[in-house]
Amino acid sequence: MLKTLARIWRLVRPHMGKVVLISALGIVVAGCTALLPYLASLFFKEVLENRNPGYAKWIPYAFPAVYAVLGLARYFHFTGVRYLSEVVAAELRKRLLDKLTRLNLTFHNQFRAGSGGMMSRFLNDTTVFQEGIYFAVDFIREPLIALALIGQMLWLDWKLSLAALVCLPFIGGALRKVGKSLKKYGYLNREAMDDLTATVKESLDGVRVIQSFNLEDEMSRRFGSNLGEYLRTRRKVINREEGVSPMNEFIVSLIFMGFAIYAINEVFGGRSSAGELTSFLLAAGLIQMPLKKIQNAHIRLQQTVVVAERLWQLLESDSFVPQAAEPRPFPADWKRIRFKGVSFDYGSEPVLQDVDVTINRGETVALVGESGSGKSTIVNMLERFFDPTQGQILIDDVPLAEFDLVDLRRNIALVTQDVFLFRDSIERNIQAGDLSKDPAGVAPAAKLANAHGFIERTAQGYRSPVGDRGNFLSGGEKQRISIARAIFKDAPILILDEATSALDSVSELEVQKGLNHLIQGRTVFVIAHRLSTVFSANRILVLKKGRIIEQGTHNSLLERRGEYFNFFQLQMTGSADVVQRN
Ligand SMILES: Nc1ncnc2c1ncn2[C@@H]1O[C@H](COP(=O)(O)OP(=O)(O)OP(=O)(O)O)[C@@H](O)[C@H]1O
Ligand SMILES: [Mg+2]
Repeated sequence: MLKTLARIWRLVRPHMGKVVLISALGIVVAGCTALLPYLASLFFKEVLENRNPGYAKWIPYAFPAVYAVLGLARYFHFTGVRYLSEVVAAELRKRLLDKLTRLNLTFHNQFRAGSGGMMSRFLNDTTVFQEGIYFAVDFIREPLIALALIGQMLWLDWKLSLAALVCLPFIGGALRKVGKSLKKYGYLNREAMDDLTATVKESLDGVRVIQSFNLEDEMSRRFGSNLGEYLRTRRKVINREEGVSPMNEFIVSLIFMGFAIYAINEVFGGRSSAGELTSFLLAAGLIQMPLKKIQNAHIRLQQTVVVAERLWQLLESDSFVPQAAEPRPFPADWKRIRFKGVSFDYGSEPVLQDVDVTINRGETVALVGESGSGKSTIVNMLERFFDPTQGQILIDDVPLAEFDLVDLRRNIALVTQDVFLFRDSIERNIQAGDLSKDPAGVAPAAKLANAHGFIERTAQGYRSPVGDRGNFLSGGEKQRISIARAIFKDAPILILDEATSALDSVSELEVQKGLNHLIQGRTVFVIAHRLSTVFSANRILVLKKGRIIEQGTHNSLLERRGEYFNFFQLQMTGSADVVQRN
């Protein structure tokens, strides 16, 4: 808990100046709030007891004066703290996004509630955190008010006050106990919220599949069960939150009972005046308010600690791609890429086993093999999305891990089957290949990718929005934009993982022309099910269950009559079949 509070404090510390100002205003608010009953007590004492106006006749004028100061201080105090809590939450969100985009793919793959759960932390938890900051100021202001009131009570009747104060630890003890259980259910409730958000995200992302497979009821059932768990844990939280007040109010009523009995004795015994006791009871009554606020702030604090622990779990995660302490720049004149005894698994089954292969600069290498044989995994390792569990990948005898990651990735252009476009214009999506480059290169890149024609035909040309994840465009159009993005990046290593799979044969042929142009002078890894793109490769690697079982040129592999030959036969008869049927 203390560790979490320290972390929160580190986030707030840069705003020290504002915190001091807000606290100072809080002290003014506390002072004025406590001054009012003091003025009232003075008034009662003088008017009821002395029957002599004396200075009491000035007291009525003091009320508006105190309220004016109180009003101003309160205005700036609360606007200050509310805005500060927004700023701190915004900074937290910024840090979270910076972190999330840098965490490695293993982390993202293994995150319990998936990207929806991540969004829940991002949006819901930070909102709870923000409210927590707002309520934290109550811990500064309200105890001051309480202290001032206690001071007055002591001044009026110290024995009685001390007797009342003895009861405070009971209230504190009860609060602590409830706080613990609040935290427990708070966690469960946040997790239920993660699942809830995850279901919403899937319902939106998968709306086409859901409608096509009539899964609306299934999603509704799933959401219902998420909601059920959310409500169950929420109820536990609410019960505890609301249980605190009645419990404490009852304790306070016992104190009041004591006061009243004592008052009867004192007044009738002639030891105290009615005026004194009225003032005392006024202060004692008013102290309820700050106590209640402190109690409420304490409850909020429990929630804030829960979300802060969840948020810092992300913020402090070190699931980065490991970087060398002194990373080397990626050499401009490298000669070869070598996979040396590379094995890999995602945690259980081996996905790659003992891959040993050297690729010379300028070579075009095709990876062929049945689905799940590990083709994408091999190229993913080049970008260090995943590192080998055994063995190494070397560039001229230097392990990939020793290069600066940003520099390494700057040297690789990747086009995958699952195209991702940003909710932005066509131009910006192509330019995303390298934002430091002159956008004048966008149109030539689009021409090479055979995308220029359709882009020109859209309403605003290159300025046309592509929609959410590119849904204003067809599959093939999206793919051509992603190819244009890679062409625009102009990196020496090019990875085409099923890059043309969404294109029809005519477009593929056109894109192929562009790609042929692109391939010149580059080192290219091509993964393609359609073999036409593979024929011309300098070398074909045939994978089976994570091992390279054959390699060579198209012709030499055909001569071997091995796995590739079978594969080729199958492809040929398959396409012949299609041609016949058409
Ligand atoms: N994130 C992941 N977590 C666990 N297993 C994975 C993950 N990604 C892939 N795999 C598994 O690793 C194996 C190799 O996957 P990979 O994507 O490299 O195959 P591929 O040869 O590219 O197949 P395809 O031709 O279908 O694209 C598969 O058995 C797959 O189930
Ligand atoms: Mg693949």
